[in-house]
Amino acid sequence: MQAQLNRILEEAKTQLQAAETLAQVDEIRVKVLGKKGQLTEILRGMGKLSPEERKVTGQMANTVRAEIEGLLEEKFEAVKKAAKEAQFAAEKIDVTEPGKETTVGVKHPVTITIEEISKVFMNMGFSIVEGPEVETVFNNFDGLNAGPNHPARDMTDTFYITENDILLRTQTSTVQVRTLQKQQPPIKVIAPGRTFRCDTPDATHSPMFHQIEGLVVDEGITMADLKGTLDSFAKQLFGPETKTKFRPHHFPFTEPSAEMDVSCFKCGGKGCRVCKGSGWIEILGCGMVHPNVLKVGNIDTEKYTGFAFGIGVERVAMLKYGVDDIRLFYENDMRFINQFK
Ligand code: DAH
Repeated sequence: MQAQLNRILEEAKTQLQAAETLAQVDEIRVKVLGKKGQLTEILRGMGKLSPEERKVTGQMANTVRAEIEGLLEEKFEAVKKAAKEAQFAAEKIDVTEPGKETTVGVKHPVTITIEEISKVFMNMGFSIVEGPEVETVFNNFDGLNAGPNHPARDMTDTFYITENDILLRTQTSTVQVRTLQKQQPPIKVIAPGRTFRCDTPDATHSPMFHQIEGLVVDEGITMADLKGTLDSFAKQLFGPETKTKFRPHHFPFTEPSAEMDVSCFKCGGKGCRVCKGSGWIEILGCGMVHPNVLKVGNIDTEKYTGFAFGIGVERVAMLKYGVDDIRLFYENDMRFINQFK
């Protein structure tokens, strides 16, 4: 039995030496001193011994227990201290370390341009509405008075999602149809968004680009309202000296239709590289809303008239910022984008 006690003591010593965590130390305590521990078992078995043996073994058992308790206590403290030290080391702050640089993002020039144009129209009382990029053929063509034989509907011009019904919108004019079907006059909205056409990318073409659509419908709206609104817009965006000029054009959803040119903001109209020597820059398409389009929204065409316009965002951004290749907008090159801080 005494040999057994010695073994228990030696074993406990070796194990305690190897123990690294509080849990491990406690495990050893339970194994030796716990209710079913090795030492407890021995003390329980002492009843079978002769009084002589019991005395000697009892004394020895007590010594061994005291020693093991001492060792446990010591190890507990040591492990606790080591854990604290490790924590301190881990939490140590090196105040001499240089700070981490946080990079602040900048707005994309297309976003800046959309925001600038939108602000001008919001100040004139327009609300902003939006439509989806995946659209119905009806909202993109038929509802806009572009019937089945219109050339823009060709597979080579338009990305179709399904053969006959669904496509990627080629123009934000789709939002005209959506708005007219949802809302009765007075209507005064702009609709910025992404548009898609089957174009091979080059310096001035991209299969994805942005437009801002405008639509005004009310009693007594005339071409004078169209010209006044868009002339004021041009002066607010390009400067008070800006002049505007309306050239006849054709769009299926407006009649009459026009394109608006602004006097070149670079040379003031004398002629330069930006305006290709003409003194004028084409900026948007516009016109009086065709009655067929108003009818799509069940709007009384005897009572109401309206005008609409569509602005190419990248075109305005390229002119304003002197960007000579539209593809630069989509390359995500931070050296390009950071210039618009
Ligand atoms: N949707 C036309 C285009 O993509 C632009 C346009 C022209 C919109 C005249 C209009 C408008 O609302 O009245 O070329």
